[in-house]
Amino acid sequence: MRTLIQGGTVVTAEGSYPADVLIDGETIAAVGRDLAALGAVDTTIDASGKYVIPGAIDVHTHMELPFGGTFAKDTFETGTRAAAWGGTTTILDFAVQSRGRSLREGLDAWHAKAEGNCAIDYGFHMIMSDVNDATLAEMDGLVADGVTTFKLFTAYPGVFLSDDGAIFRAMQQTAKNGGLIMMHAENGLAIDVVAAQTFAEGKTDPYYHGVVRYPIFEGEATNRAIRLAEAAEVPVYIVHLSAREALNEVRAARDRGAAAFAETCPQYLFLTLDDMGNGFEGAKFVCSPPLRPPDHAVELWKGLAKDDLQVVSTDHCPFDFEGQKELGRGDFRKIPNGLPGVENRVDLLHDGGVVAGRITANRWVEIISTAPARMFGLYPRKGAVAVGSDADLVVYDPKAKHTISASTHHMNVDYSCYEGREVQGWSTVVLSRGKTVIENGAYVGQKGDGRFLRREPSQEYLKAT
Ligand code: URP
Ligand code: ZN
Ligand code: ZN
Repeated sequence: MRTLIQGGTVVTAEGSYPADVLIDGETIAAVGRDLAALGAVDTTIDASGKYVIPGAIDVHTHMELPFGGTFAKDTFETGTRAAAWGGTTTILDFAVQSRGRSLREGLDAWHAKAEGNCAIDYGFHMIMSDVNDATLAEMDGLVADGVTTFKLFTAYPGVFLSDDGAIFRAMQQTAKNGGLIMMHAENGLAIDVVAAQTFAEGKTDPYYHGVVRYPIFEGEATNRAIRLAEAAEVPVYIVHLSAREALNEVRAARDRGAAAFAETCPQYLFLTLDDMGNGFEGAKFVCSPPLRPPDHAVELWKGLAKDDLQVVSTDHCPFDFEGQKELGRGDFRKIPNGLPGVENRVDLLHDGGVVAGRITANRWVEIISTAPARMFGLYPRKGAVAVGSDADLVVYDPKAKHTISASTHHMNVDYSCYEGREVQGWSTVVLSRGKTVIENGAYVGQKGDGRFLRREPSQEYLKAT
């Protein structure tokens, strides 16, 4: 099967230029001018007036995550379909090790949830709930099997929290096996003290979830994680960075030459603590780290422009307002943490980043696709418009406008954090390994099109960056 994407502007992390893209089977066969001359094709896609970009890569999703007595609402089937609608052709989801069980058991459970159900390609990180001799030894096997990245937490005491010794030991293990530690960096023990005191004062609304998780608690934990990684002589990746205090720690670390990397998420760029007001409606915006006052987002945009932040992922973790977020009525500490967003990231970043003049179109492609591919051992198979790369491609209309709404989105959740927001930019055609999965707003793929991605360790690349 040969497909020609004709007459578009190829936009990559490196530059933009008019070119056709020829796909043969699952990979890109040629990129250049007037490729129709190369012979007959089965399908031609007209990309005139549009961008042709590498499919976006969302390295932080939680399909079906158990949290707070319930489960994130999107399955791998509904969540990856929604991702495709939004121009994302790869997700990396977090498999969870349950306390007292093996990493392998957790990973097998995630494979069982995903296999045969995904619309796009997918890989896994591993959440380590216990760090001990057995799980440390298991890490090596997972790296060999293409699960090269491990998330640890300084938050959520009693559930996911690891102490400093455990974090350091896991980092030492990645020094040997080439894996990478991803840190959820908030001081969960201090947060719980403030949360209990605040609740005891009768402050029970969702808004207080945002108040008690001080920015300085995120800054402290970010510094601690980076310092431990420096001591272990490994790179470290801070997930869902939200606060100026945390960004300043990453900046300082990078200035002294540490291999410290970080992502932020659209919610921290486009939403603020004020969204958590309005009584229990604020539960729709409860996530950790929490939304911050608007001055933090100004710094995050600077961080993205200057490469102190390398990636924007979604931390997609959707809970219905009805029946799920409602578990925390009367006690903000019981609201399941997480927001939907896998479908909206590409357009929000295009509209609020490129159209608003904060970043170039090339930087947009870099932070949504190319940098994630490089950081997580997928480049140049993914994240590139280049001969030999997988034909994960998006024909993107940079002029088309649409309004985000729960009534039209495809995520399996009963509200949108961006309800009524108009955005400029739209994925008109989305191809996953050469197969069209989205065409002018319609899903034309099939459940099970997506394959598991065995990833390469990326430490050597990260150390050199
Ligand atoms: O609120 C969040 N972020 N929920 C998902 C779990 C996590 O910590 O990433
Ligand atoms: Zn987290
Ligand atoms: Zn997360």
